[in-house]
Amino acid sequence: MYSPAATRYDSPQFYRRCGHSGLRLPLISLGLWHNFGEKDSYETARAITLRAFDLGVTHFDLANNYGPPDGAAEITFSKILRDDLLPWRDELIISTKAGYYMWPGPYGEWGSRKYLLSSLDQSLKRMGLDYVDIFYSHRPDPDTPLEETMGALAHAVRSGKALYVGISNYPAAETVRAAKILRELGTPCLIHQPRYSMLDRWVEPELLTTLENEGIGSIVFSPLAKGLLTDRYFKGIPADSRAGHDKRFLRPTDVTDEVLAKTKKLNDLAQSRGQTLAQLALAWVLRHKTVTSALIGASKVAQVDDCVGATKNLVFAKEELAQIEKILA
Ligand SMILES: NC(=O)c1ccc[n+]([C@@H]2O[C@H](COP(=O)([O-])OP(=O)(O)OC[C@H]3O[C@@H](n4cnc5c(N)ncnc54)[C@H](OP(=O)(O)O)[C@@H]3O)[C@@H](O)[C@H]2O)c1
Repeated sequence: MYSPAATRYDSPQFYRRCGHSGLRLPLISLGLWHNFGEKDSYETARAITLRAFDLGVTHFDLANNYGPPDGAAEITFSKILRDDLLPWRDELIISTKAGYYMWPGPYGEWGSRKYLLSSLDQSLKRMGLDYVDIFYSHRPDPDTPLEETMGALAHAVRSGKALYVGISNYPAAETVRAAKILRELGTPCLIHQPRYSMLDRWVEPELLTTLENEGIGSIVFSPLAKGLLTDRYFKGIPADSRAGHDKRFLRPTDVTDEVLAKTKKLNDLAQSRGQTLAQLALAWVLRHKTVTSALIGASKVAQVDDCVGATKNLVFAKEELAQIEKILA
């Protein structure tokens, strides 16, 4: 029977306050977008999850459509909960989202109240939970009034099906509007989930400044650029890598000579800091205090260890930051 490591909360500095809320999140959170689908190894998914929890990773991020097929990651996670983690439910922050395509017809995607609340019920059922800790609008919907989408999030909290709400992939101006509506509804926006890495800096500086001004935390996804900001592709494309076996979101053609030239230079810098490239990439996004957590994915237990190890050194000298800018230019 699983028993979590007694040492898992030994580093209080591993948790950062999420915006102006009472909630603290781990500096590294685990996302279940990949490697938790129907065809993936349950034993590996379970081992990754339990190792993360043993290292103090309390936050697990899902969405209705994670799989494949859609919904499968929530089902895999429900099994891990049932087999191992449910006795520690009060130590876990579990999130899910709705926004992308889930079922046919006019109510199966985007931001209507009808879709969001039906999808949340479906997610709870798949996971075997009474509530999630964070429920997100997964993407802005240009055709639904923001009042309706935010109203659905606030309703999820009032009905006890979510403790907090968040938004994902919203640009700065819509974030300000969403935050105002949510404040008026008495359900402050806890968190924003944008993509952010050394190779994708769209959040700089406007969105990050907005989040700081609004007192909203952030959890940044794909901080390793889906694996490109690691040593994974230095010797070609391994068959078990994301670009090697699951080409939906990272194609072999994304592993370009230009990317490799940059990442190999970054790797030299990482080594001079006593870090791996993945650790450097995670420390770099966490250098912003508005970034509450870096949301990683993992296909192996050792990757979780490596990523959590990043938090041992989050300090950058000015010269190192300048060197990074030069490499990325
Ligand atoms: N809100 C949104 O719209 C949205 C969109 C995308 C993702 N997300 C969330 O963000 C989470 C993370 O996304 P992501 O998986 O793209 O993040 P990522 O951390 O950038 O990439 C994860 C991949 O990097 C490789 N990796 C991880 N640690 C490593 C290490 N220490 N050394 C070498 N390679 C390592 C693994 O690739 P291999 O598989 O090749 O081993 C792993 O699958 C998702 O699970 C999801 O929760 C949210």
